[in-house]
Amino acid sequence: MNWTPSSWRAFPIKQQPTYEDQQALKNVESELSSYPPLIFAGEARTLKAQLAKVGRGEAFLLQGGDCAESFSDFSTLTIKNLFKLMLQMNMVMMYTTGKPVVKVGRIAGQFAKPRSSDFEEIDGVSLPSYRGDIINGIEFTEEARTPNPHNMIRAYNQAAATQNLLRAFSRGGLADLNEVHKWNLDFIKDNPLGKKYDELSVKIDHAVRFMAACGLSSDKVPQLHQTTLYTSHEALLLNYEEALTREDSEGDNKYYDCSAHMLWIGDRTRDLTEAHIEYFRGIENPIGCKVGPSMGEDELIQLIDALNPKNEEGRLNLIVRMGADKIQEFFPKLLKRVRDEGRNVVWSCDPMHGNVEKSTTGYKTRDFENILSEVEQFFKIHKKMGTVAGGIHLEMTGNDVTECTGSQSCSITAEDLASRYHTQCDPRLNANQALELAFMIGDMIKE
Ligand code: PEP
Ligand code: CO
Repeated sequence: MNWTPSSWRAFPIKQQPTYEDQQALKNVESELSSYPPLIFAGEARTLKAQLAKVGRGEAFLLQGGDCAESFSDFSTLTIKNLFKLMLQMNMVMMYTTGKPVVKVGRIAGQFAKPRSSDFEEIDGVSLPSYRGDIINGIEFTEEARTPNPHNMIRAYNQAAATQNLLRAFSRGGLADLNEVHKWNLDFIKDNPLGKKYDELSVKIDHAVRFMAACGLSSDKVPQLHQTTLYTSHEALLLNYEEALTREDSEGDNKYYDCSAHMLWIGDRTRDLTEAHIEYFRGIENPIGCKVGPSMGEDELIQLIDALNPKNEEGRLNLIVRMGADKIQEFFPKLLKRVRDEGRNVVWSCDPMHGNVEKSTTGYKTRDFENILSEVEQFFKIHKKMGTVAGGIHLEMTGNDVTECTGSQSCSITAEDLASRYHTQCDPRLNANQALELAFMIGDMIKE
């Protein structure tokens, strides 16, 4: 079957807005199609090669960022804090695993959200659900909730500015290993976990000094001074993705979705006969697909073959999101089948989306214990199966929010959630919780 960037339009599709003004939508699509791409195809190929290493167990994947980016929380500080957090986690994991860490942000385009219901009802008033800032506004008014195609232009511009700043931080000095090391020492110093990780930080300190003594200082070795943070998002709103799909005339003449380096399919839109699978099969980027408890074994093999017919390494990342109480029941049989059938995939663990609960104080939250437990089980299952636990996929922010309960470094209770609950959608780990998790994952990998 012939694929084109718009062939998805002939297929059934879920989780899309209904735009009232179709002409306005067309105008926005054609305007976006004329804009510069946000990434270069060669970068997507490099990421694919790095993910191939992850699949072979030669590198580790760290993917993380907001559940949903928003127009209102668009600031230097938010971007910088996430960038710093990724580097801090990177350093801990790189040291403990002895492997390079491939860093992919849920950033610079993570705007569209699948929802459990098309409508939201408050006090007898029913309005379309909020679907992310790229589609409509979160405010509960008819005006805000009406999907507006112009939001796509604003999302593109915000993604471009975000990507620009990330590239500047990556090359301009903010990624200096010595600085990152100092931030981690600060974390340890003020932290109840400090004692436990003091030994590790002393070792990292020695390693950094040893390299400096060898003459490997950051002013001489670019690798100690620069980094690469790739971008990714759920490619849910296909009108936007199609408009940013470009043929790579400088390279292989194939199509790339140039809205981000990596794109993934959500757990609610991965139906084999539907539009998202059709769109994704034709783009050359490395791609992900969420795998929840409802995934069948045959279905998974069919999905892998639809998305990666050449069994290419680094092409497909399966992001497992079962929940701490379900992963043992549902994951091993899928993993065994994929292993036995010899399909090349990169397995990563999203311990967030299967562990959502309502706190006693009424907030949508996730408990650190459950998150940690799902990650631990993910590693154990892989170990038993002789397969590679390739990475981790987190919803997190570098800001000091109170959205997830628990953890030793901040011990947030249900009562604390109200204090700084800022997310537009799902609850995120704050910087201390995410870094604590990175230390613990380091321990798990060592074991
Ligand atoms: C997400 O990653 O934000 C998300 C909606 O996940 P899932 O598709 O796994 O529910
Ligand atoms: Co989410």
